[in-house]
Amino acid sequence: MSTGHNYIEKNKAAWNSRTDHHVGSAFYDVDSFLKGKSSLNDIELALLGNMEGKSVLHLQCHFGQDSISMARMGARVTGVDLSDHAIDKARELTEELNADAKFTCCDIYDLPNHLDETFDIVFSSYGTIGWLPDLKPWASIISRYLKPGGRFVFAEFHPIIWMYDNDFDKVAYTYSKGDAIVEVENGTYADKDAPIVTEMITWNHGLAEVIGSLLDAGLEIRSFNEYNYSPYNCFSHTIEFEPGKFRIEKFGDKIPMVYSLLAVKP
Ligand SMILES: C[S@@+](CC[C@H](N)C(=O)[O-])C[C@H]1O[C@@H](n2cnc3c(N)ncnc32)[C@H](O)[C@@H]1O
Repeated sequence: MSTGHNYIEKNKAAWNSRTDHHVGSAFYDVDSFLKGKSSLNDIELALLGNMEGKSVLHLQCHFGQDSISMARMGARVTGVDLSDHAIDKARELTEELNADAKFTCCDIYDLPNHLDETFDIVFSSYGTIGWLPDLKPWASIISRYLKPGGRFVFAEFHPIIWMYDNDFDKVAYTYSKGDAIVEVENGTYADKDAPIVTEMITWNHGLAEVIGSLLDAGLEIRSFNEYNYSPYNCFSHTIEFEPGKFRIEKFGDKIPMVYSLLAVKP
């Protein structure tokens, strides 16, 4: 897709250099994961349900922790990601853990040129759609890869969060369908001291855009929830008000931070 930003090359380079630091970070805690800890959160686990024997397409799987966590629950998982460093690491972990997971490295808009199957579940979570300029082809891809009766399980950071500057001092970006956001970042959310500088191109997508694109692609929305906390400590100025639940300190419980959605292909 042409956006005039070379966003695929820039974001791929950013995610490649981030991945190398994420794998060793306390945030992703690969040691505990290797010992059997699931990387999935209660929010998405409630929607995924029993995974035994289910085929799963995991969109934007990063280095495969959630893909392998679903495989450990009995699913056969195919993960897709743009970053070749992330996919190499996902394959390495899969081999080490002898998990039922395989991986494809491509831009998700280009997936139909790489994969010709349908799945019981399409899954994607936390920090995904912001990397995509347009949700219409995203929703079409989800529908294309679901079997009739198949489920799309989605958990994502709330668009309200992405309207603020990094310090949550002011509203800096439009809620939805704005221009591309071009940012240069030192370090990464998972390791703020990592010696990397990355340029990234992202877009904000409001809830009407998300839900509207899924409805236009023929999916039926079966559940939708908002949460006033994040299960990840990936923002600035947070407090952990309960173990594993984070809020922006000055906002407390006043704003939503995450939403989840379950849609079905009729
Ligand atoms: C924050 S991760 C999401 C996964 C999960 N929340 C995690 O932290 O492991 C975002 C992923 O999206 C991938 N990504 C970005 N743009 C993409 C695109 N156009 N096609 C496929 N994957 C993409 C990145 O490479 C990265 O691994």
